[in-house]
Amino acid sequence: MEDIFFRYLHFLGLIGLSSALISEHLLLKKEMQPNEIKRLAVIDIIYGLSALFMLGAGLLLWFGGSKPSAFYTQNGLFHIKLTLFVIMAGLSVYPTIFFLRKRKSDSAVLIPKTVYMIIRTELLLLAVIPLLAVFMAAGYNLH
Ligand code: HEM
Repeated sequence: MEDIFFRYLHFLGLIGLSSALISEHLLLKKEMQPNEIKRLAVIDIIYGLSALFMLGAGLLLWFGGSKPSAFYTQNGLFHIKLTLFVIMAGLSVYPTIFFLRKRKSDSAVLIPKTVYMIIRTELLLLAVIPLLAVFMAAGYNLH
């Protein structure tokens, strides 16, 4: 029963994470006012909290779920999934620092291409990770 609850928490995190990332992408403009950047910074915090939430629920599933933890630990797809998650977390640092720094600017701010590229890459990774997750959950492995 806990397993089902942990899975639900994992999905709640996924909903928060996806909504925040898609909102960031839609709100992003080449030139932005400080108040618009402030809104992005808030959404970015929601994104970060959702990622932490996902991580927590993922750990609960990994170590407290109905399947033995070795089921995941020995699965190559799970390791790729975790690696992509870590890459996503690493990539998100640059936009976060950028939004936090620029939210108090006195004039309009030009958004660097890197921020667009990073958010698009994160969206791509977000599309790939669930594919790995469903294969892994069904017992598929790399070999
Ligand atoms: C962006 C990040 C992530 C996404 C999009 C994601 C997505 C998913 C999805 C869609 C499932 C359901 C699979 C199914 O029941 O068929 C799942 C299950 C799971 N995830 Fe994640 N996940 C993410 C991060 C993590 C992290 C960081 C961990 C570990 C710390 C983790 C551990 C697990 C575990 C253990 C399961 C249970 C699989 C099963 O039912 O056997 N996930 N994940």
